[in-house]
Amino acid sequence: MKRAVEEVGRIFGDVGLGQFQLSLSSPVERGDYLTVIDELHGKVLCQLDDLKRKSDLDLEAAGALRPNDEAPVHESLLGVARIIGFRDGQGLVKMPTIPFRPGAHVFRAEEPLIAEVLGLKHHANTGAYVGLLRNHNLRVELDINQLVQRHVSVLAKTGGGKSYLLGVLIEELLRHKVTCVIVDPHGEYGSLRVPAEKNGGHARFGVESQGFGRQIQEYSPDVSLNPSAKPLTFSLRHIDPRDLLVFMGLTNVKTFLAPLKAVIEAVAASNPDYTVHDLVRAAESGEGAIAETLHERLEYLEQTKLLGPVGTSLNDLVKKGEATLVNLRGVAPDVQELVVARIALTLFENRKKGKIPPLFLVIEEAHNFAPQQGSVTCSRILKNIASEGRKFGLGLCVVTQRAARIDKSVLSQCNTQLILQVTNPLDLKAIAQSIEGLTAGMTEMIQSLPVGTALITGGGYQTPLFCEVRPRATRHGGESVQIVAA
Ligand SMILES: Nc1ncnc2c1ncn2[C@@H]1O[C@H](COP(=O)(O)OP(=O)(O)O)[C@@H](O)[C@H]1O
Ligand SMILES: [Mg+2]
Repeated sequence: MKRAVEEVGRIFGDVGLGQFQLSLSSPVERGDYLTVIDELHGKVLCQLDDLKRKSDLDLEAAGALRPNDEAPVHESLLGVARIIGFRDGQGLVKMPTIPFRPGAHVFRAEEPLIAEVLGLKHHANTGAYVGLLRNHNLRVELDINQLVQRHVSVLAKTGGGKSYLLGVLIEELLRHKVTCVIVDPHGEYGSLRVPAEKNGGHARFGVESQGFGRQIQEYSPDVSLNPSAKPLTFSLRHIDPRDLLVFMGLTNVKTFLAPLKAVIEAVAASNPDYTVHDLVRAAESGEGAIAETLHERLEYLEQTKLLGPVGTSLNDLVKKGEATLVNLRGVAPDVQELVVARIALTLFENRKKGKIPPLFLVIEEAHNFAPQQGSVTCSRILKNIASEGRKFGLGLCVVTQRAARIDKSVLSQCNTQLILQVTNPLDLKAIAQSIEGLTAGMTEMIQSLPVGTALITGGGYQTPLFCEVRPRATRHGGESVQIVAA
């Protein structure tokens, strides 16, 4: 790491309380940490937010140059730095109250100051180790209680490293025996059971390979396609007619509730252990458009095989300190929505009653389950969990490559954001709108983040920070498929 007293430039021009300009005498990268000594408070931490090379070479002079000519240029490197602050005697981050003096020296920040002001500390019991501060050897840990109490979003374009980072997060949660339920539409997280192959290039992160097979259980509505999973079913008897309508994809409760109840009552009177097939048979004889729709939707429900005489029990589905994968690989999108709706509802209701431990519910491809436009079966319950789950110890984590397409109210309830590379302008706009404290420079940096570097906001930190994601202890399951062999 760089020497403590390396001077990198001088402040010039008009100096504000939030940011200042500096002329740079040595190369500093955007995002690097700097220090200025404040007359009243001593060392203040700042961060380079923008850089520009100014020159006196104008268009005409540049145009007149011949291929081998040296360009006669006077150039200077101009930086814009954002003031992060200093820790006061009570440990609070404060900002200077008087602007720095023009001409003041600007130094490269020392690691102890960076760690102190950003609040980077090692917490053996409550810290989820996600990586190292970019260009430094300082551990970035997310506060596990905050993760569960204040919701998380993981945002990046396809291939940006969302699933990899989520894998890191789940490893940490499992190390700390936090109960998780993971909605896994592609069946990628089963690889959390398998230790990663040894990779000597990652020594700086200090991560040992480790599998979490003992703490992972997997359920799927389709076990023929996903043989490592146990069957996920719901008990017909325990689903009231209103929820049954949800399962059938019928939103018009006023129209369909009474006719459905009539069918159920007729069947239940003669056979208390009725099946969906019995309901289908009973609905067959009904006449008119409503009865026909009811019949058709019951037949659809029967095909999904989701409802049986005994459903997966809650105590099997949620195990304290373990992660449950809900593998939805190969399951039709509307059935996926039904499953997510039912599971989310069950978790929320039982968490309210304290029947299950506090837990972390992860929704991959969340734009499909809580879309901004239109509504799907599970939209409402996910919005409820986003707004009220924290009161009951139900943390939500949404993962998506389309920040613009996920419900805005859900996104804005996430107080910890893990952002990897995003290039789509609409997604960037949605991110900028939902996150406080992002500077224009940071939004620009998000567009060119290398794979494996994340911008973290919240999570116990007062200021956004760039983190090099640590290597996985387990194998990553979401490797891109090679279509043509190398
Ligand atoms: N922190 C990282 N370190 C090393 N490789 C990574 C990292 N993050 C992602 N990758 C690699 O990048 C690729 C895409 O990552 P993935 O998490 O599957 O993307 P996404 O889920 O955003 O589509 C994977 O092949 C993965 O191995
Ligand atoms: Mg992925």
